[in-house]
Amino acid sequence: MEIKGKTALVTGGASGLGAAAVRRIAAAGGNAVILDVQEEKGKALVSELGKEVLFCKTDVTSEDDVTRTIEKARVTYGGVHICVNAAGSGWAERTVTKTGPHSLSNFEKVIRLNLIGTFNVASKAALAMTLNSPAENGERGVIVNVSSTAAFDGQIGQAAYSASKGAVVGMTLPMARDLSSLGIRVMTIAPGLFNTPLLALLPQDYIKALNESVPFPKRIGNPDEFAMLVEQIILNPYLNGEVIRLDGALRMAPK
Ligand SMILES: NC(=O)c1ccc[n+]([C@@H]2O[C@H](COP(=O)([O-])OP(=O)(O)OC[C@H]3O[C@@H](n4cnc5c(N)ncnc54)[C@H](O)[C@@H]3O)[C@@H](O)[C@H]2O)c1
Repeated sequence: MEIKGKTALVTGGASGLGAAAVRRIAAAGGNAVILDVQEEKGKALVSELGKEVLFCKTDVTSEDDVTRTIEKARVTYGGVHICVNAAGSGWAERTVTKTGPHSLSNFEKVIRLNLIGTFNVASKAALAMTLNSPAENGERGVIVNVSSTAAFDGQIGQAAYSASKGAVVGMTLPMARDLSSLGIRVMTIAPGLFNTPLLALLPQDYIKALNESVPFPKRIGNPDEFAMLVEQIILNPYLNGEVIRLDGALRMAPK
C-alpha cells in the first residue's frame, strides 16, 4: 500500500519506536494519528511535524478511548488505512521471589497493556478499514503489531512480558486469516534491543555491554531501523500473517 495520502493510527506514537514510525509515515506523505497517554511528548511531535500529524490522548486498553479516537481520525482525514501497535511496556519479576509468587495483578497489567491493548486497537482499526474502497489489488488496510524477541527467548524475570508478546505472535496468523477476505494484512515485528527512552535510562557501561551482545551490527538498533521495516511492510503487498525478528541476529541469554 502506498503511504502518500493514507492515514495511520500509531499507538505509543509519542515515544521511541512508535514516534520513529510516525516520523517515517509523515515523511512519506501519510497522515499519522498518535494514540498515547503522554500528552506533552505527543503534542511536541505534532508541533515538529505539522498538520498531517494528530495527537489524541488515548489509553489503548480502553474501548471508549479507542473508538472515539478512530472516529476522530476518520472525520479528520477521511479514513484509516494503517495501524501500528507500538504502545507497550516491559516488566521484570521472577515467577517466585523471597516474598512469594509473582504478583498476579502485575501479570494482569502487562497482559492488559501489551496484549489486550494491541487487540483492542487492531480489531477496531480493522473495522474502520472495512469502510475503505479497496485499491486495485484489493487491499483495504495494513496492521503492524509489535511483539519482542522476548516472545521467543524470554529472560529470567520476563514471564509476564514474554507471555504478552508471545500472544501477539500467536494472534498474527489467525487475524491475517480472519481479515483476508476484507483485504487487510496483519504483520508483526519482533524487535531485539532498540535505543529508545526505555533503554536510555540504563547506566552507560550496561549499554556498552548490550551493544557488544549483538552479533552484527555490533550495536543496539536505532528506532528509525524499526520504522524502515514498518514502511516496507506497508509497501509490500505480499507480506502477510508473519512475524519478522529485527535483532541483528541477537538471541537473548537466560539473563
Ligand atoms: N525498545 C526496545 O528495545 C524494544 C524491544 C522489543 C520490543 N519493544 C516493544 O516496542 C514497543 C515500543 O517500545 P519503546 O521502546 O518505543 O518504548 P517507549 O516507552 O519509548 O514507548 C512506548 C509508548 O507507549 C505508550 N503507552 C504506554 N501505555 C499506554 C497506554 N495504556 N495507552 C497508550 N499508550 C501507552 C507510552 O506512553 C510510550 O509513549 C513496546 O511494545 C515494547 O514492548 C521494544
